[in-house]
Amino acid sequence: MNTQEILEKQRKYLWPNHILYYTEPLPLDHGEGNYVWDVEGRRYLDFFGGILTTSVGHNHPRVVNAVREQVGKLIHSSTLYPNENHVLLAEKMAEITPGRLQQSFFTNSGSEANETAIVAAQTFTDHREVVALRHAYSGRTSLTMSVTAHANWKLGKSFSPDIKHALNPYCYRCPLKMSYPSCGVACAQDIEDVIKTTTSGRIAAFMAEPIQGVGGFITPPPEYFKLAVDIAHHYGGVFICDEVQTGFGRTGEYWFGISHWGVEPEIMTMAKGIANGLPMGNTITVPEVAQAMTGRGLTLSTFGGNPTSTAASLATIEAIEEEAPPAAIALTGDHLRGGLERLWEKYPLIGDVRGKGLMQGIEMVTNRQTKEPAPVAVAQLFEETRARGLLIGKGGLFGNVIRISPPLTVTIEQIDEALAILDHAFGAVHETLGVN
Ligand SMILES: Cc1ncc(COP(=O)(O)O)c(C=O)c1O
Repeated sequence: MNTQEILEKQRKYLWPNHILYYTEPLPLDHGEGNYVWDVEGRRYLDFFGGILTTSVGHNHPRVVNAVREQVGKLIHSSTLYPNENHVLLAEKMAEITPGRLQQSFFTNSGSEANETAIVAAQTFTDHREVVALRHAYSGRTSLTMSVTAHANWKLGKSFSPDIKHALNPYCYRCPLKMSYPSCGVACAQDIEDVIKTTTSGRIAAFMAEPIQGVGGFITPPPEYFKLAVDIAHHYGGVFICDEVQTGFGRTGEYWFGISHWGVEPEIMTMAKGIANGLPMGNTITVPEVAQAMTGRGLTLSTFGGNPTSTAASLATIEAIEEEAPPAAIALTGDHLRGGLERLWEKYPLIGDVRGKGLMQGIEMVTNRQTKEPAPVAVAQLFEETRARGLLIGKGGLFGNVIRISPPLTVTIEQIDEALAILDHAFGAVHETLGVN
């Protein structure tokens, strides 16, 4: 089918609220490594990786072979029967996650992993309320939309009153109008104020992403999480760390983003990059949290931990270990960051560059003094980069943050290729908008 035929069926048979990138949406046909091709045969360098999901590039031979072998053997079993891949992957998760995290519950998406985490925190602590952060994105189920703190991403009418939101450590747009470091990271104190004024005084959890993803790659000051988690513990809560975007080496140096901030969660959730594109979520906890779930009601997951997705995940982790380990991502990430900072020097529409490793964001503003968000310029940059063969992502409460997150296997040459395209695309957008 060609582009028009696909788009016609999309309009007729799929819900119209599917968000599609680009003025004319882009049906993809196949991928190889860090490139994808559309149905008309045009090639694109993929710097969004299917939303930070194709960790080791498209159709990685190791992942393809592991899946092929497994589907010929046993596609599905359900969690009612133990299987080898399931336990091997759980063991691997215990090895690569920080601190005492040890026991996993595999599901099928980040939303499900986060739901599972909140139920576990409530069961373990016997408290109900959860403090999350403004600008968070947690998923598309009712409970995770309650955690999500972007009005745009909250569909429906039924949100949990147990979720409260504290101020976000968003230094570029400080909610307290202060500056780091003289602020003393005052925003962390808001967690205590929220607990004291909007909860029963005892919480089940503080829940946050080490670097907010959909929120626009908002990167907290280094001291933030230590202060936040101490407050959560003081009021009886555990720390749920949502690593759906930041996991598996994405932020460089460590397997999981939270290790940059020097705290150890009691519960961690992950999805996206876990299995290079096969559906999977995981909620890993310290043993006592997992233990608290026994004897409290029945649970299963029909597809969770299935032999095929777990085979893909094991192969993905092996490929990361061999080809793009966290230490290497720190270096490729630095190269990307250096290039983006040079673009910041050149183009006034770029207000801020932030992130870690291969998770880098560019916040676009119409004016660096007023910091007025520039979503129109972002939309134009999307078209300009697409026309030049580069795929990027976007996010932020105002839709004005470019998200750059190529597969971890990206090469320095491909980063340079992407930077050159971005340079031309920014130039074109500045010219169209008459910005000097
Ligand atoms: C940080 C974070 N948590 C949870 C989710 C939900 O994951 P899923 O779309 O797999 O349900 C997302 C999705 O973008 C996410 O970015």
